[in-house]
Amino acid sequence: MLNLKMISSVQSTFFLLVLSYCVLLSLIDGYSLKKCTVKGSLNSTTMKVLCYKRQLRAVPESVPSRARVLDISYNKISVIKKNDLGDLTNLHNLNLSNNMIEELEDGAFRGLAALQELNLAHNRLITISGGFFQNLFNLTLLRLNENHISNISSSAFLPLISLVMLNLSGNHLQYIHKAQPVFQMPRIQELHIGKNGFSSFETCQVSNTSLQLQVLDLSHNPVQLFKITADIFPHLETLDLAFINVGVKWDVQDKNYFRNVDRLNLSGIEMAPEKMKIMLQTFNSTLSNLRLYYLGEQKAKSLAKEACLINSLTTLRLQSNNINSISENELKNCSNLKVLDLAENDLTKITVLAFKSMSKLNTLSLSHNKLSNVPTAIRNLSTLEVLDLSYNSITTLTCSDFTNLTQLLMVHIYRNPLSSVEHCAFQDLHNLKTLIIDSTALYTLKGYFMSGLQNVTYLSSSRNKLSMINRDDFKCLQSLTHLHLPDNQIKSIDAGAFQGLQKLDLLNLQSNKITQTSISASVFSGLPNLKQLMLNNNCISYSSQDSLSEPPFKHLKSLYIIAIYSQGNNGMKNILSNFLEGLTSLKIFWAGNLNLNSLHPDTFTYTPELSILDLSKNYLTTISSDIFMPLKKLSSLTMIQSGIQSLDFLIEANLKEIQLLSIRKNSIAVINETLIDTVSKLSLLDIQGNEFSCDCDNAWFIDWAVNNNNTQVLKVDEFKCNYPPYFRGNRLLDLDKDSCVVDVGLLCFVCTTSFVLLTLLSSFLYHFLKWQVVYTYYLFLAFLYDKKQQKKQTLQSFQYDAFISYNTHDELWVMKKLLPKLEGEQGWRLCLHHRDFQPGKPIMDNIVDGIYSSRKTICVISHHYLESEWCSREIQVASFRLFDEKKDVLILVFLEEIPPHQLSPYYRMRSIIKKRTYLTWPKPEEDTDVFWQNLEVALEAKDTSYEERPILSQLGRI
Ligand SMILES: *[C@@H]1O[C@H](CO)[C@@H](O)[C@H](O)[C@H]1NC(C)=O
Ligand SMILES: *[C@@H]1O[C@H](CO)[C@@H](O)[C@H](O)[C@H]1NC(C)=O
Ligand SMILES: *[C@@H]1O[C@H](CO)[C@@H](O)[C@H](O)[C@H]1NC(C)=O
Ligand SMILES: *[C@@H]1O[C@H](CO)[C@@H](O)[C@H](O)[C@H]1NC(C)=O
Repeated sequence: MLNLKMISSVQSTFFLLVLSYCVLLSLIDGYSLKKCTVKGSLNSTTMKVLCYKRQLRAVPESVPSRARVLDISYNKISVIKKNDLGDLTNLHNLNLSNNMIEELEDGAFRGLAALQELNLAHNRLITISGGFFQNLFNLTLLRLNENHISNISSSAFLPLISLVMLNLSGNHLQYIHKAQPVFQMPRIQELHIGKNGFSSFETCQVSNTSLQLQVLDLSHNPVQLFKITADIFPHLETLDLAFINVGVKWDVQDKNYFRNVDRLNLSGIEMAPEKMKIMLQTFNSTLSNLRLYYLGEQKAKSLAKEACLINSLTTLRLQSNNINSISENELKNCSNLKVLDLAENDLTKITVLAFKSMSKLNTLSLSHNKLSNVPTAIRNLSTLEVLDLSYNSITTLTCSDFTNLTQLLMVHIYRNPLSSVEHCAFQDLHNLKTLIIDSTALYTLKGYFMSGLQNVTYLSSSRNKLSMINRDDFKCLQSLTHLHLPDNQIKSIDAGAFQGLQKLDLLNLQSNKITQTSISASVFSGLPNLKQLMLNNNCISYSSQDSLSEPPFKHLKSLYIIAIYSQGNNGMKNILSNFLEGLTSLKIFWAGNLNLNSLHPDTFTYTPELSILDLSKNYLTTISSDIFMPLKKLSSLTMIQSGIQSLDFLIEANLKEIQLLSIRKNSIAVINETLIDTVSKLSLLDIQGNEFSCDCDNAWFIDWAVNNNNTQVLKVDEFKCNYPPYFRGNRLLDLDKDSCVVDVGLLCFVCTTSFVLLTLLSSFLYHFLKWQVVYTYYLFLAFLYDKKQQKKQTLQSFQYDAFISYNTHDELWVMKKLLPKLEGEQGWRLCLHHRDFQPGKPIMDNIVDGIYSSRKTICVISHHYLESEWCSREIQVASFRLFDEKKDVLILVFLEEIPPHQLSPYYRMRSIIKKRTYLTWPKPEEDTDVFWQNLEVALEAKDTSYEERPILSQLGRI
């Protein structure tokens, strides 16, 4: 009974321990949030918790209460329970969009009093009930678009006293009166209720007082009746009526009702053109921005013509109308336009005078059309600042194309099959700042930029067919700060090609065919302010390991970033020891995927400022710490897929400033405490996809990864075991690390228990097996003594020839017969306890000393002897010596016949007798000579191993 109780209490203690540990774990405000990434330090008030696209089925637990942004979008959550979000009192922005939320318990957001933005778009909500938005007094922005909402409780939006923007588009409200609660919110300024199946919009059904509304989106509703009978939209500025596609009855009783509308979207509207004209009248005085997409060429043109009569109109967008051509009169009313957007049409022809009246035109987009040359209509548009000609079929640029466009700031000519540019094409573009000529058929830039472009700061000529850079290509672009030449076929670059680009900040040469011979110090000379250089995805390769006679970047004193990753044709192979010489300001070095097997120890001696280093996808299995020694400022090290097996090199390199360590997809098995201690500033550790060892070596790491507050370990909950084999594929976090941790309490418990049990056992043993215990004790002493003596004895000669063990009852025989014969006649030296034992010394010590200082031990055995405990002990010690030294030291002399059953309690003795020398004192009538002779022989036998010794069986008769 008692035992049972004890066991169950032990169990429950254990259970409690485990339980409290679990509770602790779930309460921890730690960094390693399951399935989420934390951005920003834990104590910062701008912390973002990002959990999007993680296949989550529930809101993640234990989101740190300091989180300001929580993004759980694109998951599989279907229910938000009342307590799922808890009290995130700092949360400003919550994104729950693109889930499968059908059910939202009332009060689910009540702990989020500071929430300002809530995104519930693209879910499966059907009803907005009264308790949804409890406590969200500070919410300003709410997205509920693309749900299945068909009902809204009249009290649902009452708490939302600060709401400014609400998106309810893409739901099933059907009747505008169902949307009435949303019009009642006191601060609401922007309301999207498109695509809800409304067949009418009547002001009397939404409000009878005037609203603050500035933006109203009614697009994609099959509205048949649009009836404004009261002045409820005095502040409305933007009205979206796109795709109101069933012949609308437009009934706006007073034009004044829309007195502030300046942006109007009538795209895709289906309405008779006459009706539309009437409709446009409604906005006659204020409209400035009109969007007319998807109307077809005729309708768009006639509406545009009408709209341009409105004096205030400045922006007209006519995209996607299949417009083929523009003739002289079609846009002649549009003299006030500043922005004209004709993109996404089929324009092939634009009359010379099409834009003649547009004396204020600032921005013209002709992108995505079918123009085969720059339309002459744009010449002399002296106010034009932005011109977009991208995605057309222009093949040449001539000298007159941009005539007199002196105000032009930006021109996009990308995505044209451009193959030639006349050298004077840009001559009038004195103010141009941005020139984008990507994706054309140009194979050279020679001479194109010789005149007119002195203010260009940004030039992009990517995805062309350039094969070389000539010495003077960019000579006149003195203002250039960004030069993009990626994705060409550039193989050679003239020395001094960039000479004179004093302000150049960025030079992008990635994805070309540049080789080690095309980069030389003279190529990169004259760029005193260059900060960013992209040379990745080229063909730079060094097969030998010699240092360079002239390091290529030695003049780039200001360079801050250099990217050389991914070199084709078997990779770069070697970063030569002085490759980076001269880059004294270098902070960022991207050198991944170069087929490097090692790094020269001097590689980074020239770059003391380096703080971000990426060496991913190189096979740096045997990287040594020397390489990192000069990098005292390194704060971010990325070595993804680099064959690393251990991070010990980091410990030795002592990189104190490391904050970000990404060692994904290597072969690291264990992360130890020493490493983590070395990198004390680490804030982000990405070691996903390593070959973790799921044993106690990682117990410390797991604990640290989950609980520490300074370092976020990315996706620690997804780490998989690689070792031991039977654990492969399991989660590292599932390792039962309790079995590794020595719990102090548990230790005390175990010790105490053991002590008690031991005491019990000892007293039990003492009571029942007293003598055995005592013998064992002495045996043990003998053993110790023996160990001590062993060495000495092999060398020293023995003090005595024999130790005589006998009972006092047999003393007479010993003194009268044995002693005179052995000491007197045969001359042996004997040790007798009454004569030779040292007085005052413990008797057992005397016995042990006596036996060990004698060559042999003679036990004189009689009934008395067997009854005496001391004698037995002497046998024990002697037989121990026998077994220990493997020497036949024991001679048994039987004074009387002892029946075998009497011997048996002396367990050892029986077996000894069976094998060892034993002699029997002859009966009184028999002759003693043979006995003495045999005893002498037995005593003479020296150091023979007992295995070799023949048993003197002829002497015994037992
Ligand atoms: C957050 O803590 C770090 C040290 O742990 C400290 O340097 C930093 O100033 C703290 N930031 C805020 C916003 O409290
Ligand atoms: C709500 O906003 C007001 C004004 O910005 C602010 O003073 C108040 O602290 C906010 N309430 C909460 C719970 O954050
Ligand atoms: C707009 O109103 C002005 C007078 O306010 C009138 O001259 C003009 O013709 C009207 N425009 C349209 C398109 O009705
Ligand atoms: C450019 O403008 C100037 C003055 O505005 C004018 O004299 C000249 O003829 C124009 N050039 C062309 C080619 O139209």
